Amino acid sequence: MDRIRIVGGERLNGTIPISGAKNAALPLMIASLLTRETLTLNNVPRLADVSLLARILGNHGVDVTIAGKKAGQRTSDGQTFRLTAPDIVDTTAPYEMVARMRASFWVLAPLVARCGKAKVSLPGGCAIGTRPVDLHLTTLEALGAEIELEGGYVHARAPRGLTGNRVPLAKVSVGATHNALMAAVLARGETLIENAAREPEVVDVANCLVKMGARIEGIGSSTLWIQGRETLYGAEHTVLPDRIETGTYAMAAAITGGEVFLDGAHGDLLQGALQLLRSTGVEIEEKPTGIRVARNGGGLSAVSVETQPFPGFPTDLQAQLIALMCMAKGTSEVRETIFENRFMHVQELARLGARIDLKGDTALVTGVAGLRGAQVMATDLRASVSLIIAGLAAQGETVIGRVYHLDRGFERIEEKLGQCGAHIERLSS
Ligand code: EPZ
Repeated sequence: MDRIRIVGGERLNGTIPISGAKNAALPLMIASLLTRETLTLNNVPRLADVSLLARILGNHGVDVTIAGKKAGQRTSDGQTFRLTAPDIVDTTAPYEMVARMRASFWVLAPLVARCGKAKVSLPGGCAIGTRPVDLHLTTLEALGAEIELEGGYVHARAPRGLTGNRVPLAKVSVGATHNALMAAVLARGETLIENAAREPEVVDVANCLVKMGARIEGIGSSTLWIQGRETLYGAEHTVLPDRIETGTYAMAAAITGGEVFLDGAHGDLLQGALQLLRSTGVEIEEKPTGIRVARNGGGLSAVSVETQPFPGFPTDLQAQLIALMCMAKGTSEVRETIFENRFMHVQELARLGARIDLKGDTALVTGVAGLRGAQVMATDLRASVSLIIAGLAAQGETVIGRVYHLDRGFERIEEKLGQCGAHIERLSS
């Protein structure tokens, strides 16, 4: 199993290209199930989750081709995927696939919408919490699907197609909103999704569905109105920049006291997070082509924050913020309100000398004068990258195990950080 070795203490200085967003690319790829025609996606990141989803979609009958490199294209430019599903050959998503990547559960809605049936494995447990799928199921039921749970599988049937309806979501859920949208665009009549997630990735998917011929109003708000269509068509869409990768590298630069330009990042995709970073003393300058982040000399101040759905502070940056606050002056309070078990990084950060007390859903992080390198273990995607952030600031050597978690969501991380002066390498075994 690969490990990452960092020798900390170097300031990050330079330019980091921001990749396409994993959490938009995955549902956009899934949207290809909704049409017989070709969906072309540009700026798709090179990630393990993307490759795995391409294989999963292939089992359903989607032909996936990746365009070759064009003249003048840089390695940092994303890939172009062409996804075509002339016929759906299999409406079953087996346990082996869904257990490896939760987002593949999201094939449920487009399969039912297009084929009138689907059998999709329940995803099971996860390192960050129980992560139920009840909202996905009640949404499909509201649109007329019959749902049965049997042998660990969701069996959904709508032999005469789905019918539009009111879909009030009891909780803000990114996945359930994707699911409701993908079901409603092919349902008969109108659907009103209430309490929809407003995350930029949901907006990106909705915009792509509109290009495919869907009629959706209220995009970006918590109420989405959809007029179902009999058919959707091919389209071309560019995946938006990854706001979580942006926030992560901003914090990596901040903890080392360096200065980086996050090339291609959009500040408006993470206003809550940028605001918070500014309040810790990090300099942030939004430019038309990216974001400049600097912490020259000044110390970091402690903050109090809770994770919230967009536009609040994202749960996917909570672990990274805790790592940053390990070096701030004073005690920070970081409350996790989205997932009940998303503090696995805390014990590992403690191995680097962090002072963190966990009180229920809140981490109290008291800044220390310095961290010291150690051997640590990645437990999930965002937790792993928080260890990288801490390792960059720690004196001496940090070795992070189980880095396959990182490869799921961060493209060429050691290369991007290495180009900015970090001493970081992958140890293959
Ligand atoms: C998406 O997961 C993201 N995944 C997650 O990113 C992200 O942390 C999360 O949204 C929140 O922003 C992808 O986009 C692939 P939710 P999702 O449904 O859709 C509860 C990462 O690191 N809930 O918005 O699965 C749920 O338990 C990942 O990139 C129900 O109760 O999250 C949670 O408390 C991890 N019933 C809350 O809603 C349901 O049926 C929000 O979860 C569904 C969700």
